[in-house]
Amino acid sequence: MITVPDVEAMTGVGMRLGRALRPGDAVCLEGPLGAGKTTLTRGIAAGLGIETGVSSPTFVISRRYRGPHVDLVHCDAYRLAPDDDFADIVPDPDRVVTVVEWGSDVMPAVGDSWLVVTVGRSEGMGDDVRTISLRGVGDEWDDERVNRISGDLT
Ligand SMILES: Nc1ncnc2c1ncn2[C@@H]1O[C@H](COP(=O)(O)OP(=O)(O)OP(=O)(O)O)[C@@H](O)[C@H]1O
Ligand SMILES: [Mg+2]
Repeated sequence: MITVPDVEAMTGVGMRLGRALRPGDAVCLEGPLGAGKTTLTRGIAAGLGIETGVSSPTFVISRRYRGPHVDLVHCDAYRLAPDDDFADIVPDPDRVVTVVEWGSDVMPAVGDSWLVVTVGRSEGMGDDVRTISLRGVGDEWDDERVNRISGDLT
């Protein structure tokens, strides 16, 4: 578990995570409304070298940002209907980095393996304090890779 004291620190964690991601990687962001998932994604975009400002894709479901090495596809599955075909929303997951807020139900449509990042609020530690924990699903995100990245984030 990583403690994130403020917005700036959240962006910094995202930047370091973004630098560790490569084409084909998928990240599922979990955590309650306003936890900081979009804020973390801004950092991920910066870490990928993307200079365009990232905004929440809640109403458009998905946005693609062109990066110098790899594009970022940022999705928000919050308003997705259960029968919407998520495979159409991320057409080329092997060539991009995909980050999905509220993604737990749709990640299997993106690929076989993904990183789950859970952003939480921390009771009694001040309004801005958040926690982050990482968990891997599938072969690409084995314990070794998850632990290595986890160590790089702070
Ligand atoms: N440590 C922190 N990390 C991230 N955001 C923080 C932090 N402290 C305060 N905030 C504030 O919390 C809010 C987080 O909003 P953000 O849009 O990133 O959350 P979200 O998890 O994407 O929400 P949603 O579920 O609505 O998509 C922002 O207003 C931000 O300024
Ligand atoms: Mg959001």
